[in-house]
Amino acid sequence: MVIYVCDDYGKMSEVAANQFAAHLILKPNSVVGLATGSTPEGMYSELIKKYKKGEISFENAVSFNLDEYVDLPKENENSYYTFMHEKLFNHIDIKAENINIPDGNAKDFEKYVEEYEAKIESAGGIDLQILGIGQNAHIGFNEPDKVFLKKTSVVDLTQSTIDANSRFFDSIDEVPKKAISMGTGSIFKAKNILLLASGKSKAEAINNMINGEIDPQVPASILQLHSNVVVVIDKEAAELLDESTYIRI
Ligand code: F6R
Repeated sequence: MVIYVCDDYGKMSEVAANQFAAHLILKPNSVVGLATGSTPEGMYSELIKKYKKGEISFENAVSFNLDEYVDLPKENENSYYTFMHEKLFNHIDIKAENINIPDGNAKDFEKYVEEYEAKIESAGGIDLQILGIGQNAHIGFNEPDKVFLKKTSVVDLTQSTIDANSRFFDSIDEVPKKAISMGTGSIFKAKNILLLASGKSKAEAINNMINGEIDPQVPASILQLHSNVVVVIDKEAAELLDESTYIRI
C-alpha cells in the first residue's frame, strides 16, 4: 500500500485525478470502477478539466459503479445514477453504452446481481477501482459484518451509514435502507485500487484500515492484502497515522 498525504481536499483531488489520468493515458480502454459520495467529487471535477484540455479521453473506457440505492427511482436527485451523470458523465466523452451503474429497481435482484458481476468479468475485470471509505470503514456498501461479503449483493445499510447519508435527503425517513453493492470480493479482484479520504471523521477508519487487524468488522482492512493499493488522503484523515508510513505530497 502506498499512502500519499496531501495538505487539503483540493490537493487530494488533484493527486487522485493525476493517478486516474495516468491509468487512462496508458490504457485508454481501461475498465474503471467508480464511487459516489462527497470524497471523489473534487477528483471528478479535475478529470473533467483534464478532458476539456484534451489531456484525457474516456471514449474507449468502460465504467462500473460500486453501488446504488434500492427502490429509489434512478431520476431521483439522490440516486447514484443522477450523481454520476451530474458530476462526471455529462461532461466527458464516455459512451452511454459503456456506463454501468447497478439498477436499484431491478425486477429480480438475485438474477441481476449475478449479471452485474458477470458483466464486469466479461469486460475483462476492473483495471482501476476508485474507493471512498465510510466512517465505519465500509467500502462500497460492504458494512461491518461477521464475514467479508464476496459478491455483488443487495445489502442492508447500517444506522451509521443511513445517518451519514441523511445529509442529502429532506428527512431521515427518506433515506434508503438498502443498496446494491459490489462485494468486497468483487472490489478485491480489481487490478489497481485508488482509495480517497478527507477530513477528521475518516481518521479512525483510515488508521484501522491500515494498521488494524484484517477483520470483516473493518471492511476496508482487507485491502492490506491487495498488492496494488494507492491511498490518497488529506492530513486530517491521516492524523492517526505514523508519519514514517506515508509520503507527504
Ligand atoms: C459510494 C460508496 C461509499 C462511500 C463512502 C464515503 O459509492 O461506495 O462507500 O465511498 O460512504 O462517502 P463520502 O465520500 O460521502 O464520505
